[in-house]
Amino acid sequence: MGNTDRPRVTLTYAQSLDGSIAIRSGVPLALSGTESMHYTHQLRAAHDAILIGIGTVLSDDPRLNVRLTSGLSPRPIVLDSGLRCPLRARCLEANRRPIVATTARASALRRHELEAQGVTVISITSCSDNESYLDLSALLNVLAAQGIRSLMVEGGARVITSFLRARLVDRLIITIAPVLVGGAHGVIDLLGTDESGFPRLRQTTWQQLGNDWVVAGFPDWSRP
Ligand SMILES: NC(=O)c1ccc[n+]([C@@H]2O[C@H](COP(=O)([O-])OP(=O)(O)OC[C@H]3O[C@@H](n4cnc5c(N)ncnc54)[C@H](OP(=O)(O)O)[C@@H]3O)[C@@H](O)[C@H]2O)c1
Repeated sequence: MGNTDRPRVTLTYAQSLDGSIAIRSGVPLALSGTESMHYTHQLRAAHDAILIGIGTVLSDDPRLNVRLTSGLSPRPIVLDSGLRCPLRARCLEANRRPIVATTARASALRRHELEAQGVTVISITSCSDNESYLDLSALLNVLAAQGIRSLMVEGGARVITSFLRARLVDRLIITIAPVLVGGAHGVIDLLGTDESGFPRLRQTTWQQLGNDWVVAGFPDWSRP
């Protein structure tokens, strides 16, 4: 379990039976059926904020809002060190107080353009081992200071992998569609140099929603 000072993190995404989340990186793939999409929207409504990487904004341009059920839409957050996020990205609706997390090195002009349309741009330190990635622990501390207590992370692959590698996932919920794709996987290069550093899920549950299975559990890195 994570500590209580940072938001609780739910990592959730849809994959094929073989672990693909996209046809190839940057080429979206609709995997979830109607029933599991409803469930995803219920999850969105149950979280204060929802986070994706800039790769997903540029390829899918998702709205990240709650449409298929009742409830409030979570506050959208984009990880974007180079401020490549288009001003017209659909998740940047001003009334949802969107956040773009970047580094202090990002263009001041671009920052002003985003702020002018109601985006909160926050500067986060970079990871010690990857200059272009934001330090996720530092990010979660800043989000906690903004009053965000629960965060849903929806992808894509690099973001999924970074949250798992940083061990900052409290709950994992994966929709598995009964299809084989042979495409781009959701989890990439998880282990790095630590060959025992992969999580097992405990208190696992699963449910069938339409033709999909939804598997959930709590990642535990302590088990051998
Ligand atoms: N099936 C699903 O449920 C699902 C859900 C979402 C997305 N997708 C798919 O996933 C694909 C996109 O995945 P992706 O890996 O290319 O992009 P991504 O994970 O959405 O975004 C990755 C980018 O975010 C930025 N970033 C900043 N800090 C980061 C950090 N600590 N860790 C990771 N990224 C960080 C980096 O760009 P900068 O260096 O420019 O900041 C990085 O390249 C698309 O094909 C999309 O369709 C599938």
